[in-house]
Amino acid sequence: MNEDKDAPVGIFDSGVGGISVLREAVRVLPHERYIYYGDTAYAPYGTKSADEVLTRVLAISDFLLARRIKALVIACNTATGVAAQALRERLQIPVIGMEPALKPASEMRHGGSILVMATPVTLSQPKFLRLMGQYGEGAIALPCPGLMEFVERGALHGSALHAYLEDLFAPFRGWQIDCVVLGCTHYVFLREEIRSFFPDTTQVIDGNGGTIRQLKRRLEENGVLRTSGEGVVVFETSLSDPQNLQKMRALMRLE
Ligand code: DGL
Repeated sequence: MNEDKDAPVGIFDSGVGGISVLREAVRVLPHERYIYYGDTAYAPYGTKSADEVLTRVLAISDFLLARRIKALVIACNTATGVAAQALRERLQIPVIGMEPALKPASEMRHGGSILVMATPVTLSQPKFLRLMGQYGEGAIALPCPGLMEFVERGALHGSALHAYLEDLFAPFRGWQIDCVVLGCTHYVFLREEIRSFFPDTTQVIDGNGGTIRQLKRRLEENGVLRTSGEGVVVFETSLSDPQNLQKMRALMRLE
């Protein structure tokens, strides 16, 4: 365990999606120092093999551990499904993962359906299948290959995105959809567009709040929560392209 309160919190994703989690972290825990790692050169994870994702996750955790982080947030549903257990076995610091917010969604269901949007890898992991077994009544797993790429390109609106979503949701026209789960951290940036396909009675939820509450609990338990002083965010990426860093900073400022 790292007992240094001033040590940074490491947080990573396959690309820019985890910045939606980072924003929540900064909102709830503003005094922390964050290192965000976007693995843009190797994105997407959601259509790769589990072994390829695991290799990348271990490389990133080594990079962040060398920066002496006090906790690691896997701001990616795909990487959590594949690698959270391996990381917890290896690391001496808290590892906080994510999963599609199916449990809260099941409490919002009024006899209609729940759509769980996530990557093909997330939806095929045993972890997700167990979650479906427990809370999946009325839930439909909706793989969205190619959707995170819109966010990576910075196309948060526009006709191509609209056409993608129209095709995706076409089979459910006329259904009572009580809840849409954004089971990939990239999709949080597309909430507005996704919302526009459903009536106001449909809830569109993500797991970011729960993840950061868990981070706070774990930092408190270990006595390393920073409660004063200026917070800092440092961005790192596997893609050596200054434009990528600019994109990351721009997404951080959105909202
Ligand atoms: N943002 C990631 C997630 O939450 C994955 C996107 C990808 O790399 O395919 O699942």
